[in-house]
Amino acid sequence: MVDTGGGLNLILLGPPGAGKGTQAKRLEAYYGIAQISTGDMLRAEVAAGSPIGRKAKAIMEAGELVPDDVIITMLAGRIARPDCARGFILDGFPRTVPQAEALDAMLAEQGLTLSAVIELRVDDAALVERIAGRFTCASCGAGYHDVFQPPRVAGRCDVCGGGEFTRRADDNRETVAARLAAYHRQTAPILPYYAAQGRLHRVDGMAGIDEVTAAVERILAGLSRPLAKN
Ligand code: AP5
Repeated sequence: MVDTGGGLNLILLGPPGAGKGTQAKRLEAYYGIAQISTGDMLRAEVAAGSPIGRKAKAIMEAGELVPDDVIITMLAGRIARPDCARGFILDGFPRTVPQAEALDAMLAEQGLTLSAVIELRVDDAALVERIAGRFTCASCGAGYHDVFQPPRVAGRCDVCGGGEFTRRADDNRETVAARLAAYHRQTAPILPYYAAQGRLHRVDGMAGIDEVTAAVERILAGLSRPLAKN
């Protein structure tokens, strides 16, 4: 069991393409806390051809949610790993009320508390454009966008200098529509769950990437036990 003491344990919530991964990577670098993306974990399982990956592949490609029991089992133990000692940012989890309830039980078992839940609010119309233009460095995983966040030198990753990029199998217009529908039907109901706990903060995710980061940082600065930057 890891004692996070005054660690920063965050959830980033929002529809597909809202900027959860983009902001989580920045928070990870700024504060030395671990980004935990259930989407990335599932894509690694799919790439490895594991039993979880074989179960999840078709579901993800259809834009539906992977069953709660699979996700909860996958996540259990992840937040107790040593890289979470200063805290963690959950990106893409929880996505249903049963997942939120399971997370509360996991945290209580490990003596941890949630610092804040931050919702990135973005109009559906903007999300399709964001997702259609997204690509990732094949070597280090740094994220980019054709228009909103291109590499400084075209064809070269800013972070590692790699020259190969990939696009996700579920980043097409048809699947995005299904992912958005799943968000509104299954994930949006967890917003009142966290509002009732007094942990929900809202950020205008339509703003530019740097402005969104600044808004998130203002929320973190207002928490009772903010963490020093690296
Ligand atoms: P997951 O990988 O979690 O995908 P998602 O929630 O659909 O979110 P995205 O990664 O698409 O978007 P993001 O919010 O991280 O946006 P990003 O920062 O990249 O899940 C994939 C699938 O796995 C699910 O459909 C499901 O099947 C399964 N799954 C995962 N977790 C699950 C769970 N808990 N339960 C059940 N199933 C689960 O930004 C997008 C683009 O926009 C980027 O190119 C970026 O550069 C750009 N951008 C970001 N911010 C801005 C901004 N402010 N202005 C302009 N451009 C911006």
